[in-house]
Amino acid sequence: MTYQVVLNFEDGVSRVISCDDDEKVTDAAFRHKINLPMDCRDGVCGTCKCKVGGGDYEMEFYLEDEAMTEEEEEQGFALLCQTTVSSDAVFNVLASSEACKTAAQKIGGEVIAADALSDTSFNLRVKLDQPMGFLPGQYVNVSIPGTGETRSYSFSSKPGSYEATFLIRNLEGGVMSSYLAERAAAGDKVNLTGPMGIFYLRQITRPQLWLAGGTGLAPFLSMLEKVADEGTDQPITLYYAVTRAADLVELERVEQLAEKIGTVTVVTILAAEQDEHELKGYVTDHLTEQEMNGGDIDAYLCGPPPMVDAVSAHFKALGVEPAQFYYEKFNPSEPKAEAA
Ligand code: FES
Repeated sequence: MTYQVVLNFEDGVSRVISCDDDEKVTDAAFRHKINLPMDCRDGVCGTCKCKVGGGDYEMEFYLEDEAMTEEEEEQGFALLCQTTVSSDAVFNVLASSEACKTAAQKIGGEVIAADALSDTSFNLRVKLDQPMGFLPGQYVNVSIPGTGETRSYSFSSKPGSYEATFLIRNLEGGVMSSYLAERAAAGDKVNLTGPMGIFYLRQITRPQLWLAGGTGLAPFLSMLEKVADEGTDQPITLYYAVTRAADLVELERVEQLAEKIGTVTVVTILAAEQDEHELKGYVTDHLTEQEMNGGDIDAYLCGPPPMVDAVSAHFKALGVEPAQFYYEKFNPSEPKAEAA
């Protein structure tokens, strides 16, 4: 059996490789021309130590205290020269991609369509020359035809397919926005470089609280696609907060995916005073202690920096912190800013 293994490097670059169930991860990486840090290959030196990001794996042997301590094993460290996988898995390599003689993958493609979903957002669809592996939530750099420039966007599509989609905010005067609004045509050539980023969906083992601000919905669309394929018993609550009613895009797709999964509750919130809506204001006006499930939740947030700061402060004010809190702050005028 062959699994997908994601290697996340310290500089934010990710590589997705195939790994057979009887193959050590370092050997699989080498087959993909990635030189992971390695010395003894026997579980003795500890050079290949990494932090496990998810998945089922087994380690054959390690020399206790010399290569790794029992405590480190409990904390989720592994020696990749001794590790085989029995599911798709993620490993955070303690070195840069450059040190491992690899780099982000570059895949060409062509524009299928650039549809305006509202006056504030576009859906860019790209047909790729080959599918790109990534973790739902990650982003790529997308070249902007005719400009020599790139911008970073989270995939809103599922990993590994020939069609990649992106939910893009329409920024007045923005290089990508101008291209999409004025010149984009089917067949335009684009390059995708990536995937990148540490904001991605981990294995779902407890209730999920997903918070999307505006086009910060994009990574959650990709996550919903993945969960719709794989299923989950855990409840997922998705708060989708926007400024105006017109900004509430892709809702039909969200609801279709939610229905398919069967455990998803979608809550929409509008900030603008002039627009009628059941829930008005901000996420923090509606997120109560009840949703926090006593802290036994994984929280994911993708939105502008003030939203991340407000939600972090809100968790403190409620007196309940989520078991895990992953966020991506995006400033729509800048490339990807900060993630945790
Ligand atoms: Fe020495 Fe893995 S390379 S423990």
